[in-house]
Amino acid sequence: MTAVRPETTAQSAPGASATPASSSGSFPTGFVWGAATAAYQVEGAAAEDGRTPSIWDTFSHTPGKVRNGDTGDIAADHYHRYRDDVALMKDLGLTAYRFSVSWSRVQPTGRGPAVERGLDFYRRLTDELLEAGITPVATLYHWDLPQELEDAGGWPQRDTADRFADYAELVARALGDRVGVWTTLNEPWCSAFLGYGSGVHAPGRTDPAATLRAAHHLNLAHGKAIGVLRAALPSSAQTSLTLNLHQVRPLTGSAEDAEAARRIDAVGNRIFTGPVLDGAYPEDLLADTAHLVDWGQLVREGDLAEISRPIDLLGVNYYAPTVVSHPADGAGATKNDGHGASDHSPWTGSEHVAFHLANDDLTAMNWAIDASGLHTLLTGLAASHPRQPLMVTENGAAFDDYVSPEGVVNDPQRIAYLHAHLDAVRRAVADGADVRGYFLWSLLDNFEWSYGYSKRFGAVYVDYATQRRIPKASAHWYADVIRANALPP
Ligand code: NOJ
Repeated sequence: MTAVRPETTAQSAPGASATPASSSGSFPTGFVWGAATAAYQVEGAAAEDGRTPSIWDTFSHTPGKVRNGDTGDIAADHYHRYRDDVALMKDLGLTAYRFSVSWSRVQPTGRGPAVERGLDFYRRLTDELLEAGITPVATLYHWDLPQELEDAGGWPQRDTADRFADYAELVARALGDRVGVWTTLNEPWCSAFLGYGSGVHAPGRTDPAATLRAAHHLNLAHGKAIGVLRAALPSSAQTSLTLNLHQVRPLTGSAEDAEAARRIDAVGNRIFTGPVLDGAYPEDLLADTAHLVDWGQLVREGDLAEISRPIDLLGVNYYAPTVVSHPADGAGATKNDGHGASDHSPWTGSEHVAFHLANDDLTAMNWAIDASGLHTLLTGLAASHPRQPLMVTENGAAFDDYVSPEGVVNDPQRIAYLHAHLDAVRRAVADGADVRGYFLWSLLDNFEWSYGYSKRFGAVYVDYATQRRIPKASAHWYADVIRANALPP
C-alpha cells in the first residue's frame, strides 16, 4: 500500500490553531477528537516477529507484582486485530488515534539496527488509519524499556538517553512519511517515580537517588529525541511530550499545607516543566533533593539547552487532583496520590506530606472525580506558558463495567465523567487556553499496569476470553459529541 502523507488525508490538523469555542457547548472548528492506547497495554503478541522482553514483560511475569498474575502477553490482541479496531475507531468518528511504539519490537536489544518485521506492524497500522481518515499520533515511549537496557542500568544510566535518541531516529525514518504528530515520552514521572522510587511499576526498584537520576535522563532522552525528530521528519511534523501534571491542592490554607503542596509541585511537575519549558531545574527542587543527588554532576553542560528545545504541543494527561497536607493534618489521609504512588517519602521526606482524596465521588481506581482540576490545569498552563499549544492526551475513568444479559454495556458514570471533563476543556478554551484536542483514555479496555485486567478504562469493552469488542454506551455518546463537535445540552 502506498504511504499517504498525513496532511493530505487527515480530517484535522493537530498543529493548526483552532478558532475559539463559542459560549455554547461547542468546540473550536478543527478540534482533534481522539482515543489513546499504549503498546504493552493492548498489543499482546509479546514474542512475535522478533520482539524481545521489555521491563514490563519481566515485571508482570514476576509473581506478586501484578494483580492476579496478569501479563501483557495477549492483552487486547491489538497486534492481530488492529484492522477491526481501526474500523471501530472509524465508526466512532475519531479524527486521531494515539498509540505507542514498542521499543523492543523495533529494536530488541535497545541497540543496533531496526527489525523490519517490527516496524511493519506500525506501517500497517498507520496505513490503515490514514485510509480511514484518522490521524496517527505516535508515542515513542510508554514505559516499556527493552530489558537489556535495564540490565545495563536503565534510566538512572545516562547512556539510556542516547539509546533512546537512536531508537527515535529509527522509528522516525521508518514512519515519518505516515505519522505527522510525534510524542517522545508518556508520563516520565511514572517511569521515574513509580519505576525506580515506589517500585509499583517496572522495573520495580526502590532507590530515591536512582529515581532522580532517571528523571534527569528521561528529560535528556526527550530533548535528544526532539533534536533527532526535527532533523529526520518533514517540517510539517509536530513534536510533543506528554506529562501527567499533578493538579496540586493544599488541604487547608495553612503555611504547612502550602509547603507540602510546593514540595509535590516540585517533584511532581516542575522537575519536568522546569527544564523542558523554562530551561532550568527549579531552585527549590534542587534544594529539597540535594541530600540525594549531586545535581551539579548529574546535569552536564549543554543538557538544559537540549532538554528545552521547543515542542509544538505539550500533552496533558489528567485523571484526578492531588490534595496534600502536612502530615500533622493527616486525618483522612490516603496512601494514594491519584497517580498510583503509594509513598512519596523517599524524595519528599514523609515528614513533609500526606495525601487526601478531593471528595468521596470515586472511580474504580479510588481516584476522586473533580473536573474542575482539568480546567485549572489547562488555564494555569495557558497563563504560565501562553505560547505553548496544549493537547489533552489522556482523560478517562475506570468503572466496574459488565455486559448485560441483552449484550450491552451501560456506563452512565463514565458518560458523566467524560461530559464534565470535556466541559472543563471547553471552558478552558473559552477562557483562552490553546487546547488543540482531546484523547479519551482509552479506546479499549486493557492491561492497567499493576492492576492487570481488573480495571476497565475503555470506551469499548473487551471480553478477554473471546476478544470480542462491545462499544459501551459511553462510546456511542462520545461518537455523538464528535459528530456535533459539541456537548449535548
Ligand atoms: C496514564 C497512563 O499513560 C496509562 O498508561 C494508564 O493506563 C492511565 N494513566 C490510567 O491509569
